[in-house]
Amino acid sequence: MTAAVAVPGALDRVLLSVFGFDRLRPGQAEIIADVFDGHGVVAVMPTGAGKSLCYQLPAVVLGERGGITLVVSPLIALIKDQVDALVARGVAAAALTSAASPEEQRAILDGLRAGKHTLIYVAPERFRSPRFVDALESVQDRLALIAIDEAHCISEWGHDFRPDYRQLGNAVRRLKPARLAAFTATATPEVRRDIADQLAMSSPRIHVRGFDRPNLHYAVEPVGGAAEKSARLVELVRLREGGAALVYAATRKNAELHASALTRAGMRAGVYHAGLGDGDRTRVQEAFMTGKLDAVVATNAFGMGVDKSDIRVVIHADLPRSPEAYYQEAGRGGRDGKPTKCVLMFNHGDGRLQEFLIDASYPSAEVLRAVWKLLRETPAFGRHDEDGALEGRLKGKLPGDPHASTIGSTLRILERHGLLRNDQGGWVAVRPDPEVYPPLDVESLARRAEVERSKLKTMMDYAYWSGCRRQFVLDYFGDAEWSDRGKRCGACDSCEAIAHGRPTGLGEAEVKAIRGLLLLVGSLNGRFGRTKLAAIANASDDDARFDELPERGCLRGWSARDIMDLLRALEGAGLVEASRGEYPTIDTTKKGDQVAVGRIDAAELGVRMPTGGGKKRTRAPKKRAKFDR
Ligand SMILES: Nc1ncnc2c1ncn2[C@@H]1O[C@H](COP(=O)(O)OP(=O)(O)OP(=O)(O)O)[C@@H](O)[C@H]1O
Ligand SMILES: [Mg+2]
Ligand SMILES: [Zn+2]
Repeated sequence: MTAAVAVPGALDRVLLSVFGFDRLRPGQAEIIADVFDGHGVVAVMPTGAGKSLCYQLPAVVLGERGGITLVVSPLIALIKDQVDALVARGVAAAALTSAASPEEQRAILDGLRAGKHTLIYVAPERFRSPRFVDALESVQDRLALIAIDEAHCISEWGHDFRPDYRQLGNAVRRLKPARLAAFTATATPEVRRDIADQLAMSSPRIHVRGFDRPNLHYAVEPVGGAAEKSARLVELVRLREGGAALVYAATRKNAELHASALTRAGMRAGVYHAGLGDGDRTRVQEAFMTGKLDAVVATNAFGMGVDKSDIRVVIHADLPRSPEAYYQEAGRGGRDGKPTKCVLMFNHGDGRLQEFLIDASYPSAEVLRAVWKLLRETPAFGRHDEDGALEGRLKGKLPGDPHASTIGSTLRILERHGLLRNDQGGWVAVRPDPEVYPPLDVESLARRAEVERSKLKTMMDYAYWSGCRRQFVLDYFGDAEWSDRGKRCGACDSCEAIAHGRPTGLGEAEVKAIRGLLLLVGSLNGRFGRTKLAAIANASDDDARFDELPERGCLRGWSARDIMDLLRALEGAGLVEASRGEYPTIDTTKKGDQVAVGRIDAAELGVRMPTGGGKKRTRAPKKRAKFDR
């Protein structure tokens, strides 16, 4: 065929006539060309960069020649929006999700065979159905493209792994589509490799494009307690320049709290989280999109596919779980290209809340087994009655006294793997049908928890980072242009502080603490990890080897946690360095040694002192009710 010559003209024509755009955005052209030419493509572009067009445009052109494009997307709501938009443009697109009745599903599959559809959107769990895969096989010769959206979901190392995505590798191997492309907004280099491996792409073309969003200004603001946080939140929303504010919270409860702080201050604020009914959520989203709200306060349930152009400030009122989540959520701001602020309000305690949430979402193998066994042996335990009663009944009978929200995630995980059925009367323990459910792999769950913990740690490092914030994040995502630690963007709080030579506000005592700790670290020659260093620094360790060490006890009275925070802050400022590996040890850098001996003034370096400031924390963290999103 002479398709290769005919392609560009057809693409241009369709770009304008169907999509109404006069040109492609940077990055799109190269990706589309590779998709067209049949190279395996992994394309990483940030939110709002226009990934959909990279498969929709080829799909429409291929469709004119009878080709079918299959799009895999994880969320029914996302699928619906895209299909509606395509249909409104006159493209024959259809959605095959569990939201469709069996008759509708059959009709769509028949339409597929009859050549009525150009694009079919499917949720990944469709691939569990042998009937569906058979239907695809029957149109295999016309399968022009399989596009996998939100492709990071295929990787355990990604931030949103979905077991159902794992089946895509087999499906692709069976269907052998003429073209295969994967898209995501957030993939570190290792996730990109994993995507290509899972999908068995040989020599994939990897595109990492447009990650830098120059109109976004990044800042981290340390905040003390809840009252300070609310006050600052109100101020940030009030001081925004036009448009609306998007506020992210870590939990439903916090979302409600932050929203009521805004409402009390006279702002028009809405709440959005998965605990609200569909009607409420739609109403809030509508009001936000049409400019009737100053702010929406949301959990991470909000946002996928939100395309409001004039969000002028994105505030993370609580620490997000991963740099991926942070960058994606912050990236919803400023889509019109105008200056927009992204502020992370940071309190070290927020890290512990996220740690708790991670623990709760990954129950141990023992708890998983014990819950199933209990419900199997005593079906009455599973009955539905008032909220929380089930957790109460199970709690005392489970190993390790798990938190109610851990039991909640246990039930969800067992259900997802076909080990529990949520019947009218209650939860019933069953044996899964292996044809229908992915096997429950407890080791994979444990690995996922580790990945999440390490991402959270990176997020903490970001908060304590005193170098350029943009450099930190873009380097994390593998943008080669930003791999130099010394590179500065000039448009983040750190760069501004450095440029203005703004004093960091470190007092004499703080400088002394920093120097003492650096001397201690330096004299131990990188032999120990953070925990041991903290114990020597506050002299809680009675290891006789260090009795003679002059720096032992240099931070007497500090909590171990605060010392470890300070070590992180010093790491962020490039004064100490952690070795790689499972048990990292800490050593000083050259610069750190110079600060230690007073040749460089610590007060000039922008070291962020931990919010605890070295004071002993005596109050235990308050027990919290529910943490579900
Ligand atoms: N070449 C273009 N010219 C003008 N507008 C475009 C172009 N390509 C895409 N857009 C618009 O950009 C917006 C964002 O596109 P899209 O939803 O595909 O982003 P995305 O990269 O998939 O983001 P997300 O990660 O949030 O899903 C849409 O409104 C789309 O119509
Ligand atoms: Mg998209
Ligand atoms: Zn910067």
